[in-house]
Amino acid sequence: MLVAERIEQVRAWRGHVEGSVGFVPTMGYLHVGHLELVRRARRENDAVVVSIFVNPLQFGPHEDFARYPRDLQRDLRLLQGERVNLVFAPEIAEIYPPGFTTQVDVGPIGERLEGASRPGHFRGVATVVTKLFMIVQPHRAYFGWKDAQQVVVIRKLVADLAIPVEIVAVPTVREPDGLACSSRNVYLSPEERRVAPALYAALARARALWQEGERDAERLRQAVRARLADEPLLRVDYVSVADAATMEELVVVDRPAILSLAAWLGTTRLIDSELLGVE
Ligand code: PAJ
Repeated sequence: MLVAERIEQVRAWRGHVEGSVGFVPTMGYLHVGHLELVRRARRENDAVVVSIFVNPLQFGPHEDFARYPRDLQRDLRLLQGERVNLVFAPEIAEIYPPGFTTQVDVGPIGERLEGASRPGHFRGVATVVTKLFMIVQPHRAYFGWKDAQQVVVIRKLVADLAIPVEIVAVPTVREPDGLACSSRNVYLSPEERRVAPALYAALARARALWQEGERDAERLRQAVRARLADEPLLRVDYVSVADAATMEELVVVDRPAILSLAAWLGTTRLIDSELLGVE
């Protein structure tokens, strides 16, 4: 497994690799959710590249960039075990050298939900993912449905800019109690950790209603909120039932939709989602 810190090292490797390249962009502190993407990439491609880069551009000024968990040595051991060919783990200055100014803005789709709560977040994501795509030039890139709006934003980005990469979205990997695996789960106190599965329980309840035929989006949102209201430690940021193509809120669920939520447990902000009729 080659570990590269420099763009030119990746380019040199890329120039010689034969067959298809699968790419998994991450911010590190890897868990089984990330590894699921890596395994899928391993199955479907001749070579696998993983990037580890905590991207300052996608964090707001008061967010957790400085305290975001990092453990490169552990990440490299895990990736070695998955037979990854190349890990790209650049310093910030390699991606954003002095004088860097160009950014990629996906428009309104990136201003809703996560984008409304975290202004500039998706501009940061779209910018770094575009740059990583230009460096790695993968045939396929793997993203988790855990960050459902991110999947929609990235698909829009590659369609709008005609970037020749296939975006593969992978189902959310969960703990046995339903909590979606996340690098941020390490922030939770034992008490918060006990409450956290309520997020998935709330989504699962609304999804069951949808499966029974409920198509009134507001009733689905209400079902989620009602379950979350049982947990005094939780502070809800948003509950959404949105068009899976545009992320616009729906009145009637008459097309593929994404049911999603964001909530605070103490100082930790968690997100989760369920797909309603999305292929
Ligand atoms: P990060 O949060 O490290 O996640 C990297 C990838 O792993 C994302 O595609 C995310 O959706 C996926 N992932 C995280 N938890 C998952 C889970 N429980 N099940 C399945 N997939 C999961 O998302 C980012 O990094 C960044 O925004 C990035 C795309 C790397 C750009 O900086």
